[in-house]
Amino acid sequence: MKRYIAAANWKMNKDVQESIDFTNHLTKFVLNLKRTDVILCPPFTSLFNIGELLKKTTVYLGAQNMHFADSGAYTGEISADMLKSTFCEYVILGHSERRHVFNESDSMIHKKLLTALEKGLKPILCVGETLEERQSGRTVSVLKQQYTDAFAGLSEGEMGNCIIAYEPVWAIGTGVVASSEQASEAHKEIRSMIASQFNLRLANEIRILYGGSVRPDNAEELIATADIDGFLIGGASLSVEPFVLIIQSIENYLEKQEK
Ligand code: PGA
Repeated sequence: MKRYIAAANWKMNKDVQESIDFTNHLTKFVLNLKRTDVILCPPFTSLFNIGELLKKTTVYLGAQNMHFADSGAYTGEISADMLKSTFCEYVILGHSERRHVFNESDSMIHKKLLTALEKGLKPILCVGETLEERQSGRTVSVLKQQYTDAFAGLSEGEMGNCIIAYEPVWAIGTGVVASSEQASEAHKEIRSMIASQFNLRLANEIRILYGGSVRPDNAEELIATADIDGFLIGGASLSVEPFVLIIQSIENYLEKQEK
């Protein structure tokens, strides 16, 4: 059975000590997860310490961004090798805040994706439309553009190492969550893009996460939605309790499915 994912995107929150305290607290609650992979994506400054703590656990470490070059004169940037030296295994790429606040282009995101894969990091590639794009009926074409530019030219093996996160921009940090219908429609579209670029087997295997105002009180409904294989969680991942409740919703849902 496919393993689902609960990924915490802390964004620019938590200093080193706060990250350590959270991790020590969280790992007590997520010792025996049978069906869910938990990934913590702290800020760069906490990666090394959290990586050390997570070595003895089943929780994975991810970064929130990286540069596409191997090394060089890129003041303020972090390379894939640097991430790997902290025991990081995943990296979020193309988050809407990177696209919209830091002007990352589809071609830059593609370069980052290729470097991540070459270095053995698993990308969590984010796609999603703005409110204006949705209201003007362009959701599918925006997703298609972002998908096509990001994954152009990948081999089946490379694609198999990718995770996709559908995050409608209007739902991120706003408290407005996508309805099950809106999320499932977008996830189906993305799956059919994978099927036409590769094949149906790979399309079904790849985990497509939903992100945007996921909370304990909506997680149960969302996780039962067709084609949602887990969550990328911002605000509700900043405290242990709501994050654990969301993880439990995923485990409970999958447990019921197995019966
Ligand atoms: P949110 O953020 O859960 O706070 O909406 C999600 C994200 O940006 O990944």
